[in-house]
Amino acid sequence: DKGNHRHFMAKEIYEQPETISHTLSHYVDMGAEKVAIRETLPFNFADLTRLTMSACGTAFYAGAVAKYWFERYARLPVDLDVASEFRYREPPMQKGGLSLFISQSGETADTLAALRYCAGQGQHVASLVNTLESTIARESGVVFPILCGPEIGVASTKALTAQLTALASLAIAAGRARGSIDEATEAELVRALTALPSAVSEALAAEDQIRDISKRLSKAKDVLYLGRGPMFPVAMEGALKLKEISYIHAEGYAAGELKHGPIALVDEAMPVIVVAPSDELVDKTLSNMQEVAARGGKIILVTDAEGARTVGHGVADIIEIPHVHSFVAPILATIPVQLIAYHTAVFMGTDVDQPRNLAKSVTVE
Ligand code: F6R
Repeated sequence: DKGNHRHFMAKEIYEQPETISHTLSHYVDMGAEKVAIRETLPFNFADLTRLTMSACGTAFYAGAVAKYWFERYARLPVDLDVASEFRYREPPMQKGGLSLFISQSGETADTLAALRYCAGQGQHVASLVNTLESTIARESGVVFPILCGPEIGVASTKALTAQLTALASLAIAAGRARGSIDEATEAELVRALTALPSAVSEALAAEDQIRDISKRLSKAKDVLYLGRGPMFPVAMEGALKLKEISYIHAEGYAAGELKHGPIALVDEAMPVIVVAPSDELVDKTLSNMQEVAARGGKIILVTDAEGARTVGHGVADIIEIPHVHSFVAPILATIPVQLIAYHTAVFMGTDVDQPRNLAKSVTVE
């Protein structure tokens, strides 16, 4: 049932304030401002020397954001790879590490093969899934549910924000167990998570403006997405979502890589979507935006009020999202990139929920 929406994807985008709340209520004790992991862990975060994450597509981008969190807040070294590369690389692994597999369906063939490889390498195997009765869940030592309800649209939306919410909680738990964050920091980060559902509702209210921008984007041949730090995976996710459902060519780049190649593509016909809420890196991104503007590139800036004030001068299109703690900013920043892809696809007249050539669950290699 699509409710009042034209597509399941729209319904699932709009469900996110509730689905994030639902995920949070499983992982967080809001009253105590603490993370409370209910699953029995077959390992101790404090003893881990390494976390290895593998996943595919959008689930891989969830892992890519989480890498920043586990490194920063838990001081845990992280290896991350797309499962289809990881499994054939057969990397040597030190016994006793934790391997975490992220999969909405729990049936992705490459992710499952990566899991079996890690189990054979003496790793603790954990998975983060939506479908609890899946093969990946069954073969894991511990299963972390994301609890966002069935996702029908082929393009993943609410599963991503649920994966990120659960991963953020796990990073806090790991940080506490490893002594790299104290109780006060835990409380600060938990408050940041608790503020998310209402911030997501506010971000969803930019829909009319995004529809106008998307109308213009639907005429583009290529679109570039840029981000730094945890916004880099958000940029890649934005590009993936746009190509999946609108069939417009898009690429996500680390903003600092612009001058190492992709800037050669920038001209008046090239929209450049810059995902840059105000944080310690936003000034660096400003210089990349100036490089784009100097070549006539059309910038669409996703930022908060502070970012608009400090780096938004002369930018015609600013999609403003509420200001949140930088910890949760990558979760919030996925909302406008989802809406951009959705509305652009609607203008293109594509089959949004069933894009060509794609399947919801990729059980072949
Ligand atoms: C993108 C998308 C895919 C999946 C990928 C992994 O919108 O839906 O990239 O994220 O196929 O699927 P799961 O999470 O089921 O392993």
